[in-house]
Amino acid sequence: MIECIDINKWYGDLHVLKDVNFTSKDAEIVSIVGASGAGKSTLLQIMGTLLKPESGKVLIDGVDVNALGNRELGILRNSRIGFVFQFHHLLPEFTAVENIMIPALIAGKEKTSIIKEKALALLKEVGLEERAEHKPSQLSGGECQRVAIARAIINNPSVIFADEPSGNLDSHTKQDIHQLFFSLREKHGQTIIIVTHDNSLATMADRMVTMQDGIIL
Ligand SMILES: Nc1ncnc2c1ncn2[C@@H]1O[C@H](COP(=O)(O)OP(=O)(O)OP(=O)(O)O)[C@@H](O)[C@H]1O
Ligand SMILES: [Mg+2]
Repeated sequence: MIECIDINKWYGDLHVLKDVNFTSKDAEIVSIVGASGAGKSTLLQIMGTLLKPESGKVLIDGVDVNALGNRELGILRNSRIGFVFQFHHLLPEFTAVENIMIPALIAGKEKTSIIKEKALALLKEVGLEERAEHKPSQLSGGECQRVAIARAIINNPSVIFADEPSGNLDSHTKQDIHQLFFSLREKHGQTIIIVTHDNSLATMADRMVTMQDGIIL
């Protein structure tokens, strides 16, 4: 569960988030929409602990992230949060299966052979079992994004934050990626928060939240 309480964010004189309050339930899919510059990505980064607000609190599964030191924050991010961005940010020198393995290798809780099995199972789940040994440059944009989604869930996070995850894809591939989020939620029960300019994705969500000038309407 994610809870944001009275979040304020400034960039210099620019008041980007104004007393934002937001709560999501477990296994809920929420879309965040609004005009460019409304503060959507900023809010997502704050919820994802990638950015600190000037005031306000973020609770992830009841844990106040502000109270954590850097090491604990790193552990929380690695174990409870998955990120998917508009551009996949896969590591070019690693194969699809290796890219998926990386967060689990960082967590260091399981043997490499077990992690590889898990990564291969996830690849199958996202429909790419035959592309395991391909590097990102040998995959299409939609395929890279599916690998990035598999990477985001390998540590079984409680929440996935996605910022325009299909923003870069053609309309057919978009639909596949959108479906994938819903089937993952069915199977793994994650809360998924998606910032999107895509109306069809936004309206598929359990709940749509609109931002305007740093405020949730
Ligand atoms: N690092 C930064 N330094 C200064 N201003 C920033 C920074 N990041 C964002 N901003 C400003 O904060 C405001 C909100 O930006 P944000 O990226 O959250 O918007 P957004 O709603 O995600 O827009 P888009 O739909 O275009 O992605 C914008 O006016 C932007 O110019
Ligand atoms: Mg944005």
